[in-house]
Amino acid sequence: MDKEQEAIEILKKYNQNHIVNLLNKLDEVKKQELLDQINRIDFGQIMELYDNTKKEIEIKENKIESIDYLDKAKLSKEQREKFDTLGEELIRSGKYAVVTMAGGQGTRLGHNGPKGTFKLDVYGKGKYLFEILKDNLEEANKKYDTVIPWYIMTSKENNQATVDFLEKHNYFGYPKEAVTIFTQSELPLVDTEGKLLISKDMKIKEASDGNGGTYSSLRASGSLADMKNKGIKWVFIGGVDNVLLKMADVTLLGMAIDKGVQIASKSVVKANPHEKVGVFCKMNGHPKVIEYAELPEKMAEEVDSDGELKYGESHIMCNLYTIDAIEKASKEPLIYHSAFKKNSYIDENGKEVVPSEPNSYKFESFIFDAFEFFDDIAILRGKREDDFAPVKNREGVDSPKTAKELYEKFWNRQNKK
Ligand code: UD1
Repeated sequence: MDKEQEAIEILKKYNQNHIVNLLNKLDEVKKQELLDQINRIDFGQIMELYDNTKKEIEIKENKIESIDYLDKAKLSKEQREKFDTLGEELIRSGKYAVVTMAGGQGTRLGHNGPKGTFKLDVYGKGKYLFEILKDNLEEANKKYDTVIPWYIMTSKENNQATVDFLEKHNYFGYPKEAVTIFTQSELPLVDTEGKLLISKDMKIKEASDGNGGTYSSLRASGSLADMKNKGIKWVFIGGVDNVLLKMADVTLLGMAIDKGVQIASKSVVKANPHEKVGVFCKMNGHPKVIEYAELPEKMAEEVDSDGELKYGESHIMCNLYTIDAIEKASKEPLIYHSAFKKNSYIDENGKEVVPSEPNSYKFESFIFDAFEFFDDIAILRGKREDDFAPVKNREGVDSPKTAKELYEKFWNRQNKK
């Protein structure tokens, strides 16, 4: 069977007749592009994910327990020194790398462009989110006399804009040879009838498939191999939008080394039961984060005998892994979560439809779903005012206004020390 016939069979099998019609309308070049895409897409997987959207998410509470953590502010002097020394030695030895996940769409912020190119109005002049991350790495480089390799994950959608921006700003002075940009994977968007959306360029419309793709994309892009070549032993993976993110926290790293775990994570106490953060717990004896959208109300509000939230350790996307843990996670399939979103598309008459209400499913895997492949995780509780000032929403909580305030307060405190 030729390529076209084969594609048509697949499309018919999965009820994608609108794509068969589209194929018939395209010129030869466009047709070949679409055929290649059809060949690459795993329709069985997409239809299974679509079918799953009709099922209830089930969390069996009886298998869930709260998780242990160490509070950074309550460590003894000896413990703190021990951790800091271990962490510092590792970073000084050049065996530490950092990954920034910057493939998200940043829809809630409403910024036109990759989120890292958003300029936060701090100290009059303002700073871009990428620049703030760079400052943090540069500070660590100075302190530990090293150059930390920096890997930045983009999406197919925002890769070019990210590269152009960083080039234009000369990587904000970070040694260019220490920066590697790699791109994450995508999955098709599906409407409520299970039909794949069509994009403006007459292809199947795809979008980034969540930050859980970081591990496999590190491997597929060759970045993992590159890290191994460099002798990297520990890898930090963090988000792009927390202006107080500490990417080289020697206490966290030293604690992980001391405890002999493969993964460690910084948490902060949840501000209120309904804050939009994932929370740590143990499920069936394994570490896990339950994302805010999936946490049952009852669990969100549950308190322990001290009156503290039982599931109050927030995941702030400040995660640390051994290189072996990354390798392992890169080979294990992660589950996909679905989000019902507004996505424009081209209809059967070739017209663009821009929906005013959610119309389609986006499938995303989550970075923390890999935690359950491991027996244990070391959690260090940090402080909100030192560690967490995310820029998520245009206004209100977690907005540029709140982040600016927290950022300036933090640096004013630091500069007084
Ligand atoms: C995320 C966490 C949540 C945590 C909160 C803290 C996930 C799934 N959720 O929620 O547990 O409490 O941050 O601020 O991680 N990204 C990609 N590719 C994608 C999607 C996202 O690189 O396909 C990146 C974004 O650029 C960003 C990070 O992942 O750096 C977080 O993504 P976002 O979708 O904003 O997560 P939140 O809903 O804020």
